[in-house]
Amino acid sequence: MATISIEHASKSFGSTKVLKDISLDVKDGEFLVLLGASGCGKSTLLNIIAGLEPMADGTIRLDGEVVNDVHPKNRDIAMVFQSYALYPNMTVERNIAFGLEMRKISKAERKATVREVASTLQIEHLLSRKPSQLSGGQRQRVAMGRALVRRPKIFLFDEPLSNLDAKLRGEMRTEIKKLHQTLKATMVYVTHDQIEAMTLADRIAIMKDGEIQQIGTPQEIYSKPANMYVAGFVGAPPMNFVEVDLVKREEQLGAILPAVLKGEPVDHFLPLPNSKHLEARENTKVILGLRPEIITDSTSTHSSAPEIECDVEFLEPTGADTLCIIRLNGHPAKARVSPLFACPPGESMRFTLDTHRACLFDPTTEQAIT
Ligand SMILES: Nc1ncnc2c1ncn2[C@@H]1O[C@H](COP(=O)(O)OP(=O)(O)OP(=O)(O)O)[C@@H](O)[C@H]1O
Ligand SMILES: [Mg+2]
Repeated sequence: MATISIEHASKSFGSTKVLKDISLDVKDGEFLVLLGASGCGKSTLLNIIAGLEPMADGTIRLDGEVVNDVHPKNRDIAMVFQSYALYPNMTVERNIAFGLEMRKISKAERKATVREVASTLQIEHLLSRKPSQLSGGQRQRVAMGRALVRRPKIFLFDEPLSNLDAKLRGEMRTEIKKLHQTLKATMVYVTHDQIEAMTLADRIAIMKDGEIQQIGTPQEIYSKPANMYVAGFVGAPPMNFVEVDLVKREEQLGAILPAVLKGEPVDHFLPLPNSKHLEARENTKVILGLRPEIITDSTSTHSSAPEIECDVEFLEPTGADTLCIIRLNGHPAKARVSPLFACPPGESMRFTLDTHRACLFDPTTEQAIT
């Protein structure tokens, strides 16, 4: 068992509050990703779990036991840093074995453990090299090896892949996922890369300015974002936000969606699924959140979803599909269509809008209207 439970954690550096009343539970064997922009407090929170940083207020429990005052060495946690922090004068083998050496593990046992870990990470052929003779990805593996040999209950990763190029990052991501499946250890992983978060996490905690905005499975975070910050942070290209008037026409509540057709402004009426919360907002403005894949060519869906016709300003082919830039309420918006049906820029095209998957936000609080 290895659970982490944080209750009401706060932390300040001088007069700056960097963590504000954070509460978070990580389940046994869970892969939890802390996702957020630079400076939001991810590393600080990870360091608090590791015991490298004291907390001002709050309680932290590992397996139910309060560890606020337990030394990092005695927390049974291993951490992998962005900088790798390898000893430059030691061989890979010794770098990996060093923690075991400090703990007075016998030479024979050390050798066996290092071999086993090196085999898992496929770095057996590098054991006699020095860190300077390794590529970035290989150094990253050695850093992981150093964490693995300790067989800790909990792994903490602080942006371990951010120094690697895109291709290697993708490969290492897969390796880390495999490792998690094999070890079934509890892992907390910090990143500001939303793709990394979506692909690795059992659950994602999105942070902003020292606060957790939402915790949920990648699918929950993607399809039911709690607010506009979360909605805009996850997904590429990002969700389109359009301010619309909510009105009722013939007993049907819907949004007035201003677009452009043959160079002229046109107002489309977009019926929205009924909900009590929406009814209460009749004749007010709301923010409609439309992911690009929700606005698609009418030929590729057979649903009864509403359609709009509008001018295409630009095309951005991505290979698998093509992004059409249209104009909604004066701002560019991206629609994701099949490359077969994307019409040339300057012409008008019919789009289907899957309004059941649209999000709605309060323009003042920016919180989701559910
Ligand atoms: N030792 C320190 N003294 C003063 N301020 C600090 C210290 N460490 C961090 N901070 C500040 O605390 C805030 C949170 O820092 P933290 O390193 O946790 O952010 P982060 O989310 O990990 O960012 P990044 O993605 O850039 O690594 C930042 O504004 C940072 O400047
Ligand atoms: Mg950091």
